Amino acid sequence: MAEGEVRIGIIGSGGIAGAHAERYKNIPGARIVAVADVVPGRAAAFIERYGFEGARPFSDHREMLKDDFDGVSVCTFNAAHYQPTMDALAAGKHVLLEKPMAVRLAEGVDMVRLARRMGRILTIGFQTRYEERTIAARRIVESGTLGRIYYAETGGGRRKGIPGGTFVRRETAIGGAVLDIGCYSLDTALHVMGNPRPLTVSAFTADHFGKSPVYARQAWGGTMTPEDFTVEDFGMAMIRLEGDAVLLFKISWAMHAETLGASYFLGTEGGLNMDQMTVYHDQYGVGAATTVPVGGRGGGGRRGRDPFFRKIEAFVEAIRAGGPAPIPGEDEIHATAIIEAIYRSAAERSEVRIEIPPL
Ligand SMILES: NC(=O)c1ccc[n+]([C@@H]2O[C@H](COP(=O)([O-])OP(=O)(O)OC[C@H]3O[C@@H](n4cnc5c(N)ncnc54)[C@H](O)[C@@H]3O)[C@@H](O)[C@H]2O)c1
Repeated sequence: MAEGEVRIGIIGSGGIAGAHAERYKNIPGARIVAVADVVPGRAAAFIERYGFEGARPFSDHREMLKDDFDGVSVCTFNAAHYQPTMDALAAGKHVLLEKPMAVRLAEGVDMVRLARRMGRILTIGFQTRYEERTIAARRIVESGTLGRIYYAETGGGRRKGIPGGTFVRRETAIGGAVLDIGCYSLDTALHVMGNPRPLTVSAFTADHFGKSPVYARQAWGGTMTPEDFTVEDFGMAMIRLEGDAVLLFKISWAMHAETLGASYFLGTEGGLNMDQMTVYHDQYGVGAATTVPVGGRGGGGRRGRDPFFRKIEAFVEAIRAGGPAPIPGEDEIHATAIIEAIYRSAAERSEVRIEIPPL
């Protein structure tokens, strides 16, 4: 291994693996040495497409993990996040796991414990953490400007935006909109609030668009039928948090509305509308508002520093430095517990309690 070189393997060479590959290519010293995909020929085609000279293709990630290299990007669909991550950590590799970390809390806990035991980095791929507005919002809350936050609202929605392929089938995706895009909202809101512990969840999910023959024709042009759709396209939850606070969450892949509202945080001393990045507070006894200038959701105007690039670069830098993980698995345990509880509560149609085991 050349000095400063970081050798990377990729598990799962579908859509998002390409985004990883493009970034690794632009990081000096990072080198893709192996790619694994269960679909025969897919790993080799991926290596060819991105020009990773000398990289070895595998159809079984366990075979790949016998090779000597430093870190792995786990880019498999949600249902295959757990085993490849556990195998990679057990083989002594550092892991960058794509979002969402897990749907089952027990799996998230296992991964964190194994990473600790092996002394390896486990980082979760939320590029949203590197967006300027996330960084600014966290700083505003940390500064105490808002006082104690007692209410927050988070989520997002698309007018018509149900993905296809592996994303809508329970056996590969496990969950739908809650898991696919809702995980970003939950991660950001919890991170901004300082990662409070969730106590209970009361949730509701629906699948009216995915199950509609009309929508299926529009969305997938006849390549899939409503029977293929086995996850939710809408979800909402009221989450009670430690410290007598509440988080309202709502997410949708499709709906008859433009938006489900802004993300905001209400505190005893001030409020923050995170969509506009406006802070509301009292000044000399009068209601005032200050808008914080931040870049867009993309790179924030900084050349070569798109959030996705930062997430890959931060992983490579952490490997070089011997840690710590940029977005540690530990950070995702609360969000994972909430996601698991959302599905449980929606199925039981009642509020459920969250118990988080010690890590
Ligand atoms: N961070 C982001 O912006 C972002 C965007 C899209 C997707 N994602 C996440 O990335 C993951 C993958 O999404 P995608 O769009 O690339 O899905 P995809 O279905 O296009 O690709 C997944 C690939 O993993 C392969 N695979 C599955 N199990 C495997 C195993 N055990 N070993 C090796 N290969 C295996 C599949 O054959 C497929 O090629 C998902 O968890 C998704 O949530 C993240």
